[in-house]
Amino acid sequence: MDYKAVIANKISSVLNIGQEDVMRLLEIPPRPEMGDYAFPCFSLAKTLRKAPNAIASELKDQLQIKEVERIEVLGPYLNFFLDKTEFLSGAVSEILSKREAYGHSDTGEGKTVLVEYSSPNIAKPFHVGHLFTTVIGNSLSRIFKSQGYKTERINHLGDWGTQFGKLISGYERWVDLEKLKEMPIEELNRIYVKFHEEAEKEPSLNDEARAHFKNLEDGKEYEVKLWKEFRELSLMVFERVYKELGVEFDSYAGESFYGDKMDEVVDILEKKGILTESNGAQVVMLDEYNMPPTIIKKADGATIYATRDLAAAIYRKRTYDFHKNIYVVGTPQSLHFRQVFKTLELAGFEWAKDCVHVGFGLVKFPGKMMSSRKGDVVLLDDLLKEAVVTAEKIILDKNPNLKEKEDVARKVGIGAIIFTYLKNGREKDIIFDWDEILSFDGETGPYVQYTYARAKSILRKNDTGHDADLTVLTGTEEFELSKTLASFSNAVTLAMEKYEPSVITRYVLQVAKDFNKFYNNCPINSAETSVKNARLQLVEATTVVIKNALALLGIETVEEM
Ligand code: ARG
Repeated sequence: MDYKAVIANKISSVLNIGQEDVMRLLEIPPRPEMGDYAFPCFSLAKTLRKAPNAIASELKDQLQIKEVERIEVLGPYLNFFLDKTEFLSGAVSEILSKREAYGHSDTGEGKTVLVEYSSPNIAKPFHVGHLFTTVIGNSLSRIFKSQGYKTERINHLGDWGTQFGKLISGYERWVDLEKLKEMPIEELNRIYVKFHEEAEKEPSLNDEARAHFKNLEDGKEYEVKLWKEFRELSLMVFERVYKELGVEFDSYAGESFYGDKMDEVVDILEKKGILTESNGAQVVMLDEYNMPPTIIKKADGATIYATRDLAAAIYRKRTYDFHKNIYVVGTPQSLHFRQVFKTLELAGFEWAKDCVHVGFGLVKFPGKMMSSRKGDVVLLDDLLKEAVVTAEKIILDKNPNLKEKEDVARKVGIGAIIFTYLKNGREKDIIFDWDEILSFDGETGPYVQYTYARAKSILRKNDTGHDADLTVLTGTEEFELSKTLASFSNAVTLAMEKYEPSVITRYVLQVAKDFNKFYNNCPINSAETSVKNARLQLVEATTVVIKNALALLGIETVEEM
């Protein structure tokens, strides 16, 4: 049961204001002696023409809520104290009856949400920044799906642009076919870098590259064949990483996919009368909105990144009729997306308001951190490998006889990295610190996974499945834990509304902390049978919630570690 909603419902009917508004006002007080929920009356003073304190005390007399044991007035606040045993047993039974479905809902039924994420550039290294968009997008798509939305996971590959002309020129001159097979991205990247060095000395290379790209755009067989090969080789490498991370996509429609859909964009903008010429280029002016113009066609007639994004948005609306079209792309591109969305709005697409840019910060590696092959570019492959190897060392140290240690090390190592990326608000930069990431007792993935494994081991060692009377649990730690478990849906809804998986990461950390407090204060084995059975159910409910929460982050649990 959602107790917050129950309280909000009563307040809303007494005061005659919307339940949604009351939900927003209801707080969880910082200290237990201030109750389980608090309702501040400040914001009502104006409409009700009364002092907040007076509103609070009058409201108290008008409220009778079965699930609430008592209500106290504290100045302008109403503090609600839940009936603890009612609450705990209601929460635990609900969790144990819903299981995998606990925290899920069908509020999004019939609506489609597009989540575009990862979107690396082919022939370029997939780096630690791309990992950021990959894990945020993966988590957001899981969160929306859990609320009944149909989700479409899109990888908008960077697979088009003048750089492919350069790559073809470079390929003709310097490719090492052996290396291309072994380490395709490294080799393609080497060729690309070399092209730029050589073109400094011999500018005519640029004309040749331009001609190749023109041929590619015109669909000439030779160029298309090479481009396809670059794309496939790169995808092979990316897919290896996705598999390792447990990340999937429904569509790989990248920039090249929109090659034949851009004339229409130009047409639409022209008909709307918003396409103007500026220094030979075709642009949409945005000075009224304090932004530089969106360039649609360059002076040489070529379309660019932004044109492809306009075409993509129009295509997506037609194909999926989305409720939301979410772009998980680094914050440095926020101006680009504001321009694209504004241009769509000016073009008359009312759904432009449903396009959302979800930005994120930078990833920094201070000091020696890890064996990066190329100075400051930390390759993702290296990062993941290092995580798994280090996790295995730590785990074996703790538990030398662990079965399936490789699988556990993989889940813990990868989970630790995902957790780190999703731990703080996404706009914050991440500073990588191995010791911290893999520690078992910080605010980390391994800490939560270990808590889960420990709870599972308690359940394995005991005979569970008894019908227990949960009202025998009256301790503070038991109640606090059950309260946290019961607020899972709140966390998921908030994470969804803010496009912020960190809400769930913080939440699951709180579950682990509350569980460990409970575990340290409420003995299980030495308790008398009725208490023991009830506590085992609370343990089981905790495992359900941790597993469901981690799944929404894209992190797997292990039964033993
Ligand atoms: N390929 C781009 C990059 O690596 C990201 C693409 C973002 N998505 C978009 N629709 N523009 O920076």
